[in-house]
Amino acid sequence: MKDFSKSYEVCNCKKVTIEQIQDVIINQQAKTLREIQDLTTAGTECRHCIFPEGDFGKIKKKIYCKDILNQFV
Ligand code: FES
Repeated sequence: MKDFSKSYEVCNCKKVTIEQIQDVIINQQAKTLREIQDLTTAGTECRHCIFPEGDFGKIKKKIYCKDILNQFV
């Protein structure tokens, strides 16, 4: 993963940071993108921040929830 600050906002709709996503993976044992969505609300609005294949925004995201989850699997 590229070098992002932990406070980098992955989900702009719900204002969810890298740190918040890592927290539910580490401390609440989130193992799937669905669980990350349920626990943080990231990716529950436009859904462009979940994974690249689902990013239909004009300006593509720099990092996705999936990238963060992949760090741990
Ligand atoms: S940027 Fe995450 S739901 Fe829109």
